[in-house]
Amino acid sequence: MVQNSAFFLIIYISGGSLGTTTSPQQQNTATLQDLCKKSTLGHGFPGIPGSNGMPGIPGAPGPQGPQGREGVKGQIGNTGSQGMPGPRGDRGREGPLGKSGPTGIKDIKGEPGLVGMKGERTGAPGPQGPQGREGVKGQIGNTGSQGMPDKGEKGESVKASQANVVAQTNWKQCVWKSDNDIDNGKIKECTFNKLASDTSLKVSFQGNMRVRGNSRCNRLYFKINGSECSGPVTIEALVYNHWLSGNTNHDQLHHRSFEGYCENIPQGAVRVELWVGQFSGYLLGDAWTGWNSVSRIMIEEVSRPQS
Ligand SMILES: *[C@@H]1O[C@H](CO)[C@@H](O)[C@H](O)[C@H]1NC(C)=O
Repeated sequence: MVQNSAFFLIIYISGGSLGTTTSPQQQNTATLQDLCKKSTLGHGFPGIPGSNGMPGIPGAPGPQGPQGREGVKGQIGNTGSQGMPGPRGDRGREGPLGKSGPTGIKDIKGEPGLVGMKGERTGAPGPQGPQGREGVKGQIGNTGSQGMPDKGEKGESVKASQANVVAQTNWKQCVWKSDNDIDNGKIKECTFNKLASDTSLKVSFQGNMRVRGNSRCNRLYFKINGSECSGPVTIEALVYNHWLSGNTNHDQLHHRSFEGYCENIPQGAVRVELWVGQFSGYLLGDAWTGWNSVSRIMIEEVSRPQS
């Protein structure tokens, strides 16, 4: 519409100027003929040039040009910062139930564990479950056929008790290395911690000992808490010297040992003493223990004897 208006305007202006040039020519035809007649008579001077006409009205803006070519590709930009973590996934399905396992050994209950990590979508099979309950008692079966007439040996009676679980390692030894000239009295004592009441004690002595004199006898024995063993009998050893030559100073310094089991000893502290003394019906000899070597009392708590 703008272009059309401008086009009509140009035509209108041209038409106007044609009009102005044509009309004087037609009106002044007689005047021009007179001037031509006069110029044939003599030469005049050319007239002064007229002044420049007014500039025309500026033209309308031209149509829009074509789109320019695509620019050169730019360089790769810097890597952006890491984005926020995405939302948490759905909880995985529970794993299948494990097989029933055997009953484990009873133990002290542990502390509760920490909360575990979230599992993957499909969980691993669960741990083996506990053993099932005891089944219902079955019906009484049919009476079997009669057995063979042979009679078996009588079995041993073994009752379950604390005595059967006492550690085999509850023992003690008292050792010394010194000479002792006592003929009648206590040589050494050794205290022991008995862990159970329904057990027995095994006590023994190892060491060098002599009895000097003709037809003399000394007795070595243990006392347990002040009394000789009565469960079942005493623990003792006799050393007799019969020297017919008449030289009663003859020394038979020999290693000796004796031992025994004693039952019915209460649980707790037990005092085991090694004694030397006279043997009933014989003269007391000149005893000597511990010559040049180690003497030893050994005590061990053992299970009670079989019945
Ligand atoms: C055995 O002797 C020890 C030490 O003297 C004592 O502590 C304990 O009570 C005694 N045991 C018995 C049953 O008399």
